[in-house]
Amino acid sequence: MLRRLSLVQPDSFAFTPENLAWAKAQMTKYPEGRQQSAVIPVLWRAQEQEGWLSRPAIEACADLLGMPYIRVLEVATFYFMFQLHPVGRIAHIQICGTTTCMICGAGELIDVCRARIAPAPHTVSADGNFSWEEVECLGACSNAPMAQIGKDYYEDLTAEKLSALLDALAAGQVPVPGPQNGRFSSEPLGGPVALKATEKAEELNASAALAVKLRDTVKRIDGSEVPILTPWRRRPEQADPDAPQVEPTPSAGRPADKTGVTVQEAAATSPGKPQSKGEPAGQPADAKDTH
Ligand code: FES
Repeated sequence: MLRRLSLVQPDSFAFTPENLAWAKAQMTKYPEGRQQSAVIPVLWRAQEQEGWLSRPAIEACADLLGMPYIRVLEVATFYFMFQLHPVGRIAHIQICGTTTCMICGAGELIDVCRARIAPAPHTVSADGNFSWEEVECLGACSNAPMAQIGKDYYEDLTAEKLSALLDALAAGQVPVPGPQNGRFSSEPLGGPVALKATEKAEELNASAALAVKLRDTVKRIDGSEVPILTPWRRRPEQADPDAPQVEPTPSAGRPADKTGVTVQEAAATSPGKPQSKGEPAGQPADAKDTH
């Protein structure tokens, strides 16, 4: 799949003071002379600021990092995480079109995008709210077909469920990510058939438990940050009484529930406003690097 820069480009790009400070802080993570290693987070911050990566943005990142333009262009054009064309105001929908997802119905998801957003990928919808593209495997094959929206995965999709997601996003909601057919992760639809009786949730989900203990968060598409979801929080009826109970941090808001969290609700639980598109609120710069 060819990944080329948009034919429509802005005249210039400049980081906001906050984002420039963040980018420079990232560069200090690496030994002297190795600041180029920060190229991906710096590009990512530029994209979060503007919504997509324009040529001036790529060149500004290259200047900041002391890299030839072509080297940064190579990185930006290689990864699907970087958007090289303007994206929708509300969301850019990335539909996985690789083998497993295609066998399980990705074609129908693409049909929804063509009908509801725009006939061609990388085209912003008439109302400016959405855009879409087909991408290669996103590593959630056991929950095929799936789509990535912002940093969230929406899995086990059908055409109807994707359409409902678009409706919710258009209404200002941030639907709960993950499988959309009721399962927690990639267990059989009828429930786990192994390691289900004696293991505690903490042992079964060691990495999730560690993330909770660290008070890790995930940034949602509206710029708010919410705590990492855990099995015992997401499915109260399946709660493990021995699982660690962690109080939500003041800046993390409350866990999302099955009905989704509105933008207004998310904002109400977060002190301070996002500094820019995708900029988390209420945390010091050194606490934001959760991804
Ligand atoms: S084939 Fe779609 S996530 Fe892997």
